[in-house]
Amino acid sequence: MVTYRYSAEGITPDQLKGFFVGWPNKPSPEVHLRLLRGSDEVVIAVDEATGAVVGFTIAITDRVLSAYIPLLEVLPEYQGRGIGSELVRRMLERLKGLYMIDVLCDEQIVPFYEKLGMRRTIGVILRNYECQAGPKNGLRPDGIADD
Ligand SMILES: CC(C)(COP(=O)(O)OP(=O)(O)OC[C@H]1O[C@@H](n2cnc3c(N)ncnc32)[C@H](O)[C@@H]1OP(=O)(O)O)[C@@H](O)C(=O)NCCC(=O)NCCS
Repeated sequence: MVTYRYSAEGITPDQLKGFFVGWPNKPSPEVHLRLLRGSDEVVIAVDEATGAVVGFTIAITDRVLSAYIPLLEVLPEYQGRGIGSELVRRMLERLKGLYMIDVLCDEQIVPFYEKLGMRRTIGVILRNYECQAGPKNGLRPDGIADD
């Protein structure tokens, strides 16, 4: 059975295997855990049979007007069972009441989000590919060292 959590408390790096499929420079499970802990909202899907995290989404929000959902992923072997939709539905519920909730995604994922009530738009992005696996030294405002 898959259950959903709203905190990364108690999650360990060994529960975070197999994510960032297709990323040339994957964040390690330790960096993954750090981004879960550092996000304003998280929804984490756990397979209770194995203890493995099988899907997650995070949001960054000012808790006043706006929120951004930068990541959503379900492990390939768990896709197509409604877990991705459930993660988004639960995240939108957490963010209910905010004016702006934004997601950037590839063209083929747009119908997935449209089914969940979101709509297509135009945006711009900047990507520092040298930081894809985690922040470079000196960029962290919290002073916590990389493990
Ligand atoms: C996108 C993703 C999270 C969906 O997770 P999931 O658990 O498979 O989604 P669901 O089972 O809830 O699927 C819901 C619907 O979306 C469709 N869908 C899911 N992934 C899709 C994809 N990559 N392209 C097109 N449609 C997709 C499904 O066919 C399903 O449609 P249906 O309800 O008509 O059967 C998952 O495919 C994934 O992790 N992809 C890689 C990472 C990614 O692209 N993340 C989005 C970043 S913005």
